[in-house]
Amino acid sequence: MAKLQFSIVLLTLCFISSINSIQSATFTLTNQCTYPVWAGILSGAGTSPLPTTGFPLQPTQSNSISIPPGWSGRMWGRTLCSTDSTGRFTCLTGDCGSGTIECNGGGAAPPATLAEFTLNGANGMDFYDVSLVDGYNLPMMVVPQGESAGNCNVTGCFVDLNRNCPSELRLTGSGAGDESVACRSACEAFGDPMYCCSGAYSTPQTCNPTSYSEYFKTACPTAYSYAYDDGTSTFTCSSANYVITFCPTPANSRKTTGAGQSAESSGSGSLAKSVGVSSVIVFAFILTSVWSL
Ligand SMILES: *[C@@H]1O[C@H](CO)[C@@H](O)[C@H](O)[C@H]1NC(C)=O
Repeated sequence: MAKLQFSIVLLTLCFISSINSIQSATFTLTNQCTYPVWAGILSGAGTSPLPTTGFPLQPTQSNSISIPPGWSGRMWGRTLCSTDSTGRFTCLTGDCGSGTIECNGGGAAPPATLAEFTLNGANGMDFYDVSLVDGYNLPMMVVPQGESAGNCNVTGCFVDLNRNCPSELRLTGSGAGDESVACRSACEAFGDPMYCCSGAYSTPQTCNPTSYSEYFKTACPTAYSYAYDDGTSTFTCSSANYVITFCPTPANSRKTTGAGQSAESSGSGSLAKSVGVSSVIVFAFILTSVWSL
């Protein structure tokens, strides 16, 4: 009888620890821009859909979402959005074609800055990057927090590339003036295989940086500037939560100030706490059953 009880306790222990090891991640999207941004989210094929695929963020506003283990997908910001007289919602940059605030499986129309994630990939690591391969529409930063292993570097493109965007790449607003609202990739602007890493240029050996990709790389050294820019642009981390900020300011970087980390790392703190609490409960169970032998 006591043996059976002991086995049940052991099973419970295994069950609780397996729950803790596949804990979901929290992604917090924050808008530090002076203008509203509509977040867009596209889940990768074959991963769990998220409860939301798009939502507005007013300046200084944040929204936290729970991301299931093994999720992959991309997040971006839509700007200059409005609803027309027929009720159709569209954005001048990053539009996902759904006609609504939710993207419902639609991806970002280029040019758009993208944050890309593959959670719990090879060796259980999270892979993440910020990509300008599809062009640029606003500054973005990804900050891992509360991680257990990995390089976990902050990445992103922190500067405004619209203002100095080469004129041949410039996407301008439909209204008055020639204000640049986004900066296209050379691939999108010219469709040349040399810029798109396609055709004869479809391998890492044959597709090289160009003066256009170097414009992006110089301004944003940790972001992807062309398709085979992996070496300096992809990052790994383990069991982290992620803060994705639109229009980060240098003060938001933990590398310079360390600010924001204590407030935001509470998620993993509570994970550590829940692991601690369940261990205590299991230990008490074991003690009780040993006592009753
Ligand atoms: C992460 O940052 C550190 C310190 O700045 C740097 O030495 C390292 O090369 C970076 N890792 C990657 C993968 O870029």
